[in-house]
Amino acid sequence: MNKVVLVTGAGRGIGAATAKLLAKQGYRVCVNYRTKADSAQQVVADIKAQGGKAFAFAADVSQESAVLELFQAIHEQYGTVTHLVNNAGILFTQSTFAGLSVERFNKVLITNVTSCFLCCREAIKQMPNGGAIVNVSSAASRIGAPGEYIDYAASKGAMDSLTKGLSLELAERNIRVNAVRPGFIDTDMHADGGEPNRVQRLSPQIPLKRGGTATEVANSIAWLLSDEASYVTGTFIDIAGGK
Ligand SMILES: NC(=O)c1ccc[n+]([C@@H]2O[C@H](COP(=O)([O-])OP(=O)(O)OC[C@H]3O[C@@H](n4cnc5c(N)ncnc54)[C@H](OP(=O)(O)O)[C@@H]3O)[C@@H](O)[C@H]2O)c1
Repeated sequence: MNKVVLVTGAGRGIGAATAKLLAKQGYRVCVNYRTKADSAQQVVADIKAQGGKAFAFAADVSQESAVLELFQAIHEQYGTVTHLVNNAGILFTQSTFAGLSVERFNKVLITNVTSCFLCCREAIKQMPNGGAIVNVSSAASRIGAPGEYIDYAASKGAMDSLTKGLSLELAERNIRVNAVRPGFIDTDMHADGGEPNRVQRLSPQIPLKRGGTATEVANSIAWLLSDEASYVTGTFIDIAGGK
């Protein structure tokens, strides 16, 4: 199969590591990002330098019109999308539940969940039989993130339910839908939460005694997308060092 993958939020962090790994495995990759064009273009340059195929496309995937433009652009460049990684996600500064504003709550939900819904919907309209989707959820969906970001944890819980339901709905078309649930991965995201060194602080509480890397998450995503996982759907891989 001619493999074409969209990785949302692929300009940095877990998305960038995933885009680079998938390109090495022969996928043609759309590197989606929101605002940081330089960093997304660097991911594309790295992929091309290793002989892969990729292009970057700016789209706020929480917005329906932007998602439609994104899929149109991929269709023009590479044809039908066969694989999808819903990775784009945000969180805001650590806060108690009482301190959350409705604007923040809605922003987190629309960015983390509506984006996943929109990209899945557009992808499955064109996917042939035998495609695959991986949603990047979080250990927060199990843990709940009290005192830090319950809004974020709730958005990831919604992604888990979406993953389960869609996997069952699409099973007859042999489109597999799975999720990874990383925890404590060393990326810029923790600075957005107001604590750049969060992973180091929490390392002693993690059974494996360290944070994870974006590449370790990318490896599981790539496996779930691959034919090696051909009998795996509606499931979750926890990548949280045993936590
Ligand atoms: N790091 C962790 O410990 C951890 C743990 C569990 C789950 N996760 C999940 O893993 C995923 C990636 O996280 P990360 O740590 O790699 O984060 P990151 O380094 O902060 O990168 C986030 C990426 O998402 C993009 N993005 C954000 N909002 C977007 C939007 N509306 N439309 C399109 N792109 C958007 C950003 O684009 P720009 O670069 O243009 O801003 C960026 O490329 C997220 O879903 C996150 O919830 C992370």
